[in-house]
Amino acid sequence: MLNPVMNRRRLLWGGASLAGAALLKEMSGTRLISSAVAEITAPMEPIRMSSNENPYGPSQLAIEAMQGAFSKSNLYGGIGNQLVDLLARIEGVAPENVTISAGSGELLQAAGVLAAWEPGSIVSPYPTFGQLVRAAEVLGSEIINVPVDEKMHIDLDAMYAAIRPDTRMIYLCNPNNPIPSIIEKKALEDFVRTVARDRLVFIDEAYYEYVDNPEFSSMMPLVAEGLNNVIIARTASKIHGFAGLRVGMGYAHPDLIAKLNKVKTGSISVLSQYAAYVAYQDMEFQDFSRARNKEGLAIVEGMCDELGLRYIKSNANFAFFETGIDSETFRAAMREHNIMVGRTFDPYPTWARVSMAKPEEMAYFVQTYKKLYT
Ligand SMILES: Cc1ncc(COP(=O)(O)O)c(C=O)c1O
Repeated sequence: MLNPVMNRRRLLWGGASLAGAALLKEMSGTRLISSAVAEITAPMEPIRMSSNENPYGPSQLAIEAMQGAFSKSNLYGGIGNQLVDLLARIEGVAPENVTISAGSGELLQAAGVLAAWEPGSIVSPYPTFGQLVRAAEVLGSEIINVPVDEKMHIDLDAMYAAIRPDTRMIYLCNPNNPIPSIIEKKALEDFVRTVARDRLVFIDEAYYEYVDNPEFSSMMPLVAEGLNNVIIARTASKIHGFAGLRVGMGYAHPDLIAKLNKVKTGSISVLSQYAAYVAYQDMEFQDFSRARNKEGLAIVEGMCDELGLRYIKSNANFAFFETGIDSETFRAAMREHNIMVGRTFDPYPTWARVSMAKPEEMAYFVQTYKKLYT
């Protein structure tokens, strides 16, 4: 049987040529449109612990900002430079150091294009978030994957040793994903200062807002200082709960920003611009998200301690621990209980990545885990 939404659409579009104006009038009727929207919404959503989203966002203030912006949706240009200016002020850099992207994913792709512009290689930790290197690989770059060390931390010495004369970019993810470890700040700064003399260093700080580890530091001060080969990526997808709104940003030397701007659209909707402008000033919501995330992590990592499961202490909004069970089997078992957890991450087929949902949902996860495996 055909999907009823499809049926109705076919009817509308099929009939439009016949009944023209009358049908168009009917299409814009609120009753029809709202019933179609209701049909899109799936009932009984599973609990999402699979994509490192924020279960609370976007904040109420961000939603109100979007509601206020609906009537401006017909205009190009959005809020002009105001978002860039705000982000520059927050980070202590110049507006020329900032670029906006459709999620940080767009910036990762653009940086991949930049790296692959000339033949050469990219050095990347392994495992890590693969969007940048995948984009560059398609365009002909060779990817040199450097395994994490025995503590599952990014191995800067090994990465340094892996750099070749043709290496155009080094990708770092701090905190990393799927392993939520950080790179110690002094070692990282030394590495970046040395390597960025003649190569691009891309630092993906998607989870930066969740870190309260004193050994961590953003490398933003190096951009503020004027280093010309460093790109830092941030995203509103995580602490601000904007994953579906697609707002990301890059910080770099103005010459590098100009190059990135040539290979990305940076075009985000007017709603997203208004929402981001408000969200980045909404400290209460960010503090709330951080606190709930910490509660969730304490529940899951507490279970790992109790059951003696190996885990990497999280600096992000997800946990990574060794279940000892094939991760696809584990995923399917959790799905049976209405929980979606992360996919398999090579080379850890018996580890699970579990994103933080609400603390009460994490308690349900722990209860389910114990019921199934203890
Ligand atoms: C490390 C890292 N970087 C970048 C992204 C891309 O996120 P977005 O495109 O939503 O900003 C993600 C998404 O999960 C991520 O984990």
